[in-house]
Amino acid sequence: MSARSSDHETVFTLEATPIKFGPGAANDAGWELKRLGVERALLVTDPGVLATGHPDRIRELIEHDGIEVVVYDRARVEPTIESFEEAVEFAKDAGVDGFVSVGGGSSIDTAKVADLVTTHPADVMSYVNPPVGEGRKPQAPLKPHLAIPTTSGTGAEATTVAVLDIPEQKVKTGISHRYLRPAQAIVDPELARTMPPEVVASTGLDVVCHAAESFLARPYDQRPRPETPDDRPPYQGSNPVADVWSAKALEYGGRYLRRAVADPDDLEARGMMMLAASMAGVGFGSAGVHIPHACAYPIAGLKHVYRPAGYPDDHPFVPHGHSVIVTAPAAFRFTYESMPDRHQHVAELLHGGPVDHDGPDALPDELRSLMRDIGAARGIEELGYGEEDIPDLVQGALKQQRLLVGAPREVGPDDLAQILRDSLANW
Ligand SMILES: [Fe+2]
Repeated sequence: MSARSSDHETVFTLEATPIKFGPGAANDAGWELKRLGVERALLVTDPGVLATGHPDRIRELIEHDGIEVVVYDRARVEPTIESFEEAVEFAKDAGVDGFVSVGGGSSIDTAKVADLVTTHPADVMSYVNPPVGEGRKPQAPLKPHLAIPTTSGTGAEATTVAVLDIPEQKVKTGISHRYLRPAQAIVDPELARTMPPEVVASTGLDVVCHAAESFLARPYDQRPRPETPDDRPPYQGSNPVADVWSAKALEYGGRYLRRAVADPDDLEARGMMMLAASMAGVGFGSAGVHIPHACAYPIAGLKHVYRPAGYPDDHPFVPHGHSVIVTAPAAFRFTYESMPDRHQHVAELLHGGPVDHDGPDALPDELRSLMRDIGAARGIEELGYGEEDIPDLVQGALKQQRLLVGAPREVGPDDLAQILRDSLANW
């Protein structure tokens, strides 16, 4: 095969955050920061996670290793441009040479942005993906960032993205660049014990979506060849290496998520879901997510009326996992015809063996069964939306072209409207 045989991409890359995994791994936090050359760290967390006691214990461990720690405990669950700016200001005043995040995707993403902007000062908005921001790129690596997730969902420790809400524009978008990827992650199942079952359910469904969307993304070699390496998107499309990570995460999602929700003391199940989150993060950090995540942005951003059980009740919001999973059955029914065998394979991975029927409904049925078993939202109706909101939701999803181009089948406004209509109630 000649490298110039077509106008299509011929190259893919796989990068991964180094991950240290296992019960008790968080005890190495100070050692890892020292190894990374950090002398004064900003520990980023949120009030809910702070209340679990994990951040204080980790701060003490780090201080014990002779590293100064400044704590920022106001990371917002579902961050906004303002919450990122506030963290950036705090980090500038703190004068640190490294970051450690303890929490869910929100805390990890807040640390990524504080690191980015204190290393390469500029308006936060200038770094946001176009068309919302300018898509500015940092010219050199950031300060070391050690990420310690306490949930099992986002895989933020393994990705190059920070997601944010821009309330005035009613849009969720992100900042993405390879330098945002944390230098090291510590994934410690002991930290997952404190997660409420509803949070385990929602974050676990996000894991399943990351892995399924990545496995079912448009293959990397169907993209046009880029002009320069800089023009290669972070989300490259499905590729043989990303498939390995996504497939394993799907298998674990099917095998352990129900158990992890049912019993906080099932350390094996909760630990394997944390590992699945990181593995899916590696997979989607390479291949990318598409329709369910594109729809999730307006579902989370448009109306703020839903008050989920198990989450802090200081403001109404749709947890990310809920916003993603609700359209997944309809989205994968829509994409089925583009790669039937791979859809069937995803259904089987989730099921842990052959499923009793094949065809376009096999994967949607498998997802609905998992959703019902762990008490997921039935559909977008339960999250506060009706038929009359579909045009606005479609407009919001269409703003996520960066994601939609990764769908294995071309998806236009009418297709999105049908997917959303089919997702009003999944059963
Ligand atoms: Fe996600």
